Amino acid sequence: MRLFLDTANIDEIRRAARMGVVSGVTTNPTLIAKEGGVSYRQRVLEIAEVVDGPISAECITRTTDEIVEEGLGLASWHPNVVVKVPLDEAGLAAIHRLSAQDVRINTTLIFSVNQALLAAEAGASYVSPFVGRLDDIGEDGIGLVREIAEVFDRYHLPCQVLAASLRHPRHVTEAAKAGAHVATLPFNVLLQMLKHPLTDSGIERFLADYERVFGQRTPAS
Ligand code: E4P
Repeated sequence: MRLFLDTANIDEIRRAARMGVVSGVTTNPTLIAKEGGVSYRQRVLEIAEVVDGPISAECITRTTDEIVEEGLGLASWHPNVVVKVPLDEAGLAAIHRLSAQDVRINTTLIFSVNQALLAAEAGASYVSPFVGRLDDIGEDGIGLVREIAEVFDRYHLPCQVLAASLRHPRHVTEAAKAGAHVATLPFNVLLQMLKHPLTDSGIERFLADYERVFGQRTPAS
């Protein structure tokens, strides 16, 4: 399972890229709005300098013609741009037209297997089931990821399951077990994934044991 970062914050993206674990980035209108008015295009180009992988940029128009025009514009920003389209009737028709022009699509706001099937049939490259938002209303977000992955696998559909709206590290583990091709993580979830109290206490104990016998630490050569 590949890991994407779910943020438009360039400092977070730079830090995560240094760790060598991020192979793509997803953004949305809420995330770009948090960046204090920075131009969306400018930010996507900055991200493309840091991460060599798919960067999802989301449409904010509502009719099919508008989404197609906007999607072509977003895709022209950089070859790594994947156009994010919310799933409704107008969006589906736009996905069909854009994918016919070789624009890669991430269908967002997926909350059912049927929605995922429709997006895949229309030609989307990714579907994004929103795990946390389903959990928030008492449904099973990871269960949806598993069901979509099973159906896509069974019918060999060339569309990847991108687990989104992940809120904590357990979501990431469960998304991997459920067969997601990609998980997109808020930066704080990536940091939480690194952490284990036994790792921290283990490092402290190794260093203290060494220093007790050898005094100051000098790197081995
Ligand atoms: C996915 O691409 C979305 O940007 C994101 O995961 C939404 O997460 P939220 O439900 O925490 O807003």
